[in-house]
Amino acid sequence: MRIDIITVLPEMLDGFINTSILARAQKKGLVEIHLHNLRDYTTDKHRRVDDYPFGGAAGMVMQCQPIDACITALKAERDYDEVIFTTPDGEQFNQPMANALSMLNNVIILCGHYKGIDYRIREHLITKEVSIGDFVLTGGELAAAVMADAMVRLVPGVLSDEQSALSDSFQDNLLAAPVYTRPADYKGWRVPDVLLSGHEAKIKEWELSQSLERTRRLRPDLLGE
Ligand code: ADE
Repeated sequence: MRIDIITVLPEMLDGFINTSILARAQKKGLVEIHLHNLRDYTTDKHRRVDDYPFGGAAGMVMQCQPIDACITALKAERDYDEVIFTTPDGEQFNQPMANALSMLNNVIILCGHYKGIDYRIREHLITKEVSIGDFVLTGGELAAAVMADAMVRLVPGVLSDEQSALSDSFQDNLLAAPVYTRPADYKGWRVPDVLLSGHEAKIKEWELSQSLERTRRLRPDLLGE
């Protein structure tokens, strides 16, 4: 999978995409993540990418020209499955969306900034608008990072133990069961006996009952309750 992120703040994402699992996924050749500085595509001699909104509203709006130029240049190189725009009024990002996106070959993520982008870009070039939650960030970079992270870890081979992605919270609409590591007794805080029993079927049964109990208690909406 290849992810092209268009941003006015590439330095904000550079460390993130070159650290830990995202870095390893790229080194293994499973994923490519490319950052594109929107300012490199403007024809403005002061490298400006925003302007005042028509109608006199407050705040600045990202202009059509540099966004169009960047997306057009990328599309000339390869076909894209989705051109995503990060925006608080988009579709809510969740695990099913991460699963679906992780199966695509080429994805562009355009990070919003200021008061938004010229609506004509959304009408003509964007294929999917995504929000990571009902709150407003100063820009779409953190949203792009969240999405890229959730997508990349689902690409086969990225996680060393593929099971660990399958048993994530939300993967089957249930929260994950609690996990523990050594020592079995820490200051009298004991690991549940069943996990020390070595009885695989009993452990699976316990994990499922814990998942159900935690989901019912913490996220009953996931069970339709
Ligand atoms: N840009 C600003 N806030 C955002 C949000 N909640 N989700 C996605 N992009 C955003």
